[in-house]
Amino acid sequence: MLFLAIETTCDETAAAVCTDEPRVLSSVVATQHDLHGRFGGVVPEIAARAHVRQLIPVIDSALRQAAVGLDDIQGVVVSNRPGLIGSLAIGLTAAKSIALCLRVPLVGVDHLAAHVYACYPRLWRRPDEGIRVPPEAGEGGIFPCVGLVVSGGHTSLFDCAGPIEYELLGATIDDAAGESFDKVAQLLQLGYPGGPAIQRAADGGDRHAFELPRSFPGGPDSLNFSFSGLKTAVLYTVARLQQDGQVSASGVPFDLKQLKPPPPPVLNHLAASFQEAVVDVLVKRAEQAMERTGYDRLCVGGGVAANRRLRERLLELATSRGWELLIPPLWLCTDNAAMLALGGEFLKRGLVDDLSLDLSSVPQRGRRPRAASARP
Ligand code: KG4
Ligand code: ZN
Repeated sequence: MLFLAIETTCDETAAAVCTDEPRVLSSVVATQHDLHGRFGGVVPEIAARAHVRQLIPVIDSALRQAAVGLDDIQGVVVSNRPGLIGSLAIGLTAAKSIALCLRVPLVGVDHLAAHVYACYPRLWRRPDEGIRVPPEAGEGGIFPCVGLVVSGGHTSLFDCAGPIEYELLGATIDDAAGESFDKVAQLLQLGYPGGPAIQRAADGGDRHAFELPRSFPGGPDSLNFSFSGLKTAVLYTVARLQQDGQVSASGVPFDLKQLKPPPPPVLNHLAASFQEAVVDVLVKRAEQAMERTGYDRLCVGGGVAANRRLRERLLELATSRGWELLIPPLWLCTDNAAMLALGGEFLKRGLVDDLSLDLSSVPQRGRRPRAASARP
């Protein structure tokens, strides 16, 4: 079955043509980094307007690249949660309109579940394009697995019993990992998006130069994350390095506007130490989730999964514990519509939505990414 996938949860406008094997015939992504860069983060109103401008050309281009026409489309899949409401509404409305005009089924999928599904090696351009340990991992499918999703808006661990059966094990209680990369990059004046910028600055830096906190919130049973304390620790470190009477009489410790990042190589050491702290936490929590579920397969997705140091450390972990590890190639880590090939699992099972399909800023909880209804 051939279907069109539409992704507009945040600041990437994306469309793909997929099949339920699953295969990706085309994947087109229009980023909005230029529009949000000067604000140091995504501005929801600007993102929504850019989706309006970009979506139709992106869909056209995905159809052209797959060498198919609208008449060939047998279903429409759309990320309807979680995300920015204004952004989601553009993609969802387009998906409904196309499904209605073509009289084909509509399926809404959870964006975070789709990030895990991107680990399916059949979606990659080449079987060795992403990280796959051992080399034949994922041959017979990627479920059951622990799914770790690390993105700009979310840091979550899932027990993924099957492609449509996800259970949340833990999530961030404050900032997401990617958000902390973006905020620290802004503080260090490294630009947006922060993840790749911190990674570049961390190259050649000493990751043990600064002692930064690793937070594991909750009791021994918790698999939650917290990154806001780490961000604040970097802020205090920058202020301390500046060493020129930042503590104001009003009790506000630092005037943020006056803070200046340290020059290289201290800047590189700080970036490397920060990156290592985030990676330490992600790797430890992933290990705990694997032990908790007893699964022997770890699938990692989301923009932060593109991070070279995280990939290296997860590879070490999986190899030492004898676990399967799947991490998609970079183009499938950051937001894209190819990962919505997940929708094929719903289409195959006849689990489709009607035109009342809603959107939500929060992820689906419980065993299914969303409440789907069977339709003949
Ligand atoms: O999954 P994604 O494209 O969008 C969301 O669903 O949020 O993730 C974007 C996030 C941004 O915070 C960006 O800074 C981060 O992924 N990111 C990285 C890297 N590439 C992108 N973080 C660390 N290292 C990278 N190489
Ligand atoms: Zn994402």
